[in-house]
Amino acid sequence: MKGVILAGGLGTRLSPLTKITNKHLLPVFDKPMIYYPLATLMDAGIKDILIVTGGNHAGEFLRLLGNGKELNLKEIHYAYQTGEKGIADALRLAEDFADGDKIVVILGDNLFGESLAPYVEKFSKQCEGARILIKKVSNPQKFGVADMKGNKVISIEEKPKKPKSNYAVCGLYMYDSRVFDFIRKLKISRRGEYEITDINNMYLREGALAYDILKGYWTDCGTYESLLRANILVAKKRGINLKGLL
Ligand code: DAU
Repeated sequence: MKGVILAGGLGTRLSPLTKITNKHLLPVFDKPMIYYPLATLMDAGIKDILIVTGGNHAGEFLRLLGNGKELNLKEIHYAYQTGEKGIADALRLAEDFADGDKIVVILGDNLFGESLAPYVEKFSKQCEGARILIKKVSNPQKFGVADMKGNKVISIEEKPKKPKSNYAVCGLYMYDSRVFDFIRKLKISRRGEYEITDINNMYLREGALAYDILKGYWTDCGTYESLLRANILVAKKRGINLKGLL
């Protein structure tokens, strides 16, 4: 299976930090943010990876990651998104790279505290369709939210004012090759983006969306608070005594 890291967008919620570099190159404890989704994919056995980036500092990815050899990757592929028209729009650029294969897509600002290998393994055995990961959170209105009936996801709403559950949809999506046909059918949302949530709902309507509930921690790094949280979670994982520091 191939992997796609989406690292476009302007990261305006983190301005002025993102005025002088790309959000995904900001530090999360001892490494640039992009190392984490890269490590997550590699840990799941994925070594053929495309990074979709954009904005003003895209060249810095090459300076940092080069051709991927130092990271034990066969090769890193790059694509450049113009217009910051959303996650599904960035994914559109992965069609030639995917070349008909199933893909695992991860958002460049998402950190996972557990190995995703078991979920990717399940998807590799799934004949077709899509698979997502969900996680119980205390602030669901900031995410895509899965409306559950029993143990079934019945719809997903993007950043609802009144969330129907506490289950956020994490930034890790597994798709068969039909995802690109679905992207072509997408209409731009009210906030001016091509939404990944609309893609997931298309699979859902066909009865082709499976899901797993994450056990470990999960966070994005898109705001000052979540970036700080990500730093703390990684520092804790590395055994840093945070109380001793303060
Ligand atoms: O973190 C999980 C959440 O990510 C999901 O629960 C939501 O359903 C999903 O829409 C997304 O919400 P965010 O508002 O947090 O997404 P954000 O705009 O911060 O973009 C997340 C990443 O996607 C970003 O780090 C890079 C990539 N991206 C984003 C945009 C808007 C692109 O590659 N291109 C883009 O145009």
